[in-house]
Order: sequence, then structure tokens, then C-alpha cells
Amino acid sequence: MRSLLFVPADDAKKQKKALDSATDAIILDMEDSVAAGNKLKARSSVVDFFSHLTTDKIIIIRINALDTEFWQDDMVAILPLAPDYILIPKARSGADVATINGLIKANVKAASKTRIIALVTELPESMFNISSFKNSGEALAGLTWGAEDLSAELGAQNNKDADGVYFPVYQMARSFCLLGAAHAGVAAIDSVFTNFKDDAGLRAEAERAKTEGFQGKMLIHPCQIAIVNAVFSPSEAEISHARQVIAAIENSTSGGVAQLDGEMIDQPHYKRALNLIKGVN
Ligand code: COA
Ligand code: MG
Repeated sequence: MRSLLFVPADDAKKQKKALDSATDAIILDMEDSVAAGNKLKARSSVVDFFSHLTTDKIIIIRINALDTEFWQDDMVAILPLAPDYILIPKARSGADVATINGLIKANVKAASKTRIIALVTELPESMFNISSFKNSGEALAGLTWGAEDLSAELGAQNNKDADGVYFPVYQMARSFCLLGAAHAGVAAIDSVFTNFKDDAGLRAEAERAKTEGFQGKMLIHPCQIAIVNAVFSPSEAEISHARQVIAAIENSTSGGVAQLDGEMIDQPHYKRALNLIKGVN
């Protein structure tokens, strides 16, 4: 999943637009983009959306957080739909993942299909529990992060400086997401870029995320899809280099270390190359 586009769950017009777009995944959001008075409507819109769904896009549903009055009814409504993923906002620790994992496994339809992505930096508490996401549930497939709710929690006026660079605490949140995902053996997905008129800023942020190990990025507006898909698609040169790394290691006498164009390559390079080719196939 290179691109994951947020769409408010109570907005049928945007849902249609998202289905017609080039996004890899759609996140139907029942949480922060839906007003408290519209939660019931959002739930029934999601059910309606699935009732005429014919798409090969990946469908993700963001439920309400586990400290709200809404999430249990959200789960009752969406489990029979067996979405590809459930996105857990404000996950406090691996215990929240375990709770959702248990409900998925107890539902016949969802058990074999639905996986979990958790937002793991929106509360200060979550940041201290980052290692707990490892082994928190077999359905866990990815971690992602958010700076907006964290800044509200911190009482901050902004999360970026005048040059658009995240303040250190949000850079730390981003790094914790990356480390937590690697520790748990799941994908790391980068957060949204809220200024959807700033194409250059989006491209720079996405390129940085890809270079550091994120596998895709969440989006808020369709105009962000083309840039993010392009950034997260491996180039011909990257694919060809990865194939050479794999061949060099597999044809080497030790199978452990080899050289390619005068550079030493060993197991981490081999693993990275295998991952890249796996994403292409
Ligand atoms: N998905 C699908 N379509 C979207 C969209 C989205 N996320 N965001 C905008 N569009 C559509 C609009 O409906 C509009 O369609 P139209 O031309 O047929 O009228 C078109 O794209 C252009 O939109 P624009 O006028 O530039 O923006 P807007 O004022 O309609 O919407 C936002 C701006 C921020 C409200 C909107 O992008 C949005 O709802 N984003 C998702 C918010 C969200 O889910 N947040 C939670 C996670 S952070
Ligand atoms: Mg939020």
C-alpha cells in the first residue's frame, strides 16, 4: 500500500471520488472527521458503502478510539463487513490491539481476512508503550503515527516550525513508529501531510519517509495521490539493483557476503532487496 486516502465515513460524495481515484487504499474514517452527532449516520453509511462495493482497492475502516462510547457499536457494525483492515486510533498500548484482535478472531467472516493497523503516537501514554505492540495480536499488520492529536495532548500551538519542519517531539513520534513497527515485524506507514496545496512539501516528506523505511503514506486529499504513488513505487534502477544484489548473494560461494561493483553486500542488503522485489511482484 503506497497511498491510503482518508475519507469521512459520512460523506458519500467523497467516497465515490475516492473509488474513482488512483489511491491504493481508502480509509473510511468514523473517528475524528465525523462529528459526535453524526456517528450513527457514519456507521450506517459504512454498511451502505459495502453493500454496493465492487473494487479491487484495499478498504480500511478507522473505528473510534477504545476510550469512547462508540467503538464497541462500531465493531458490531463493521465485523460482518470483513474490511481488509481496521485502523485503531489512539492505541494506548498493545492491549488495545489485543482487544480488537480478539473480536476479529471471534467473527467467522472477519477472522480469515481482516487485519489491523494501529495509530501509536497520538497519546503521550502510547509513546511510552511503543514496544508493547510486538506480539499484541496475530492480525496486526502495520503501525502508523499522528502529530495532530499528540500536539493537542501536549497543549502545543503547532507541531511544525515556520519552515514546515516538525518539532523534535513529533520527529521522535515518527521515529518511534518506525522502530515500533520494525520491532513488531510489521509495516510502518507515514502520517498525513495536512497542507494539501503544497506539492513540493508533500513530495519532500514522502521521499524522506520512503528513504527511512516507511512503506506508504496516509493522505487527506485526492490531489496528493499521484505524488505519493510515484514516490513509493520503486524505480527501474532500484528494481534492477535489487535483482543484482539478490543474484550476487545467491551465487556467492558463502551465500552470506559478496561484492557488487566494488561494494560489499551482505545479509541486510539482501533482505532489503528481497523486500523491494516482494513489493513489486
Ligand atoms: N476523498 C475524496 N474526495 C475528496 C477528498 C477526500 N479525502 N477531499 C476532497 N475531495 C473532493 C471534494 O469533494 C471535491 O470534489 P468536487 O470537485 O466533486 O466537489 C474535490 O475533491 C476538491 O476538494 P476541495 O474543494 O479542494 O476540498 P474540500 O474543501 O472539499 O475538502 C477537506 C477539504 C480537507 C475537508 C477534505 O480533503 C477531507 O475531507 N479530507 C479528509 C479528512 C479526514 O478524513 N480527516 C481525518 C484524518 S486526518
Ligand atoms: Mg486524530
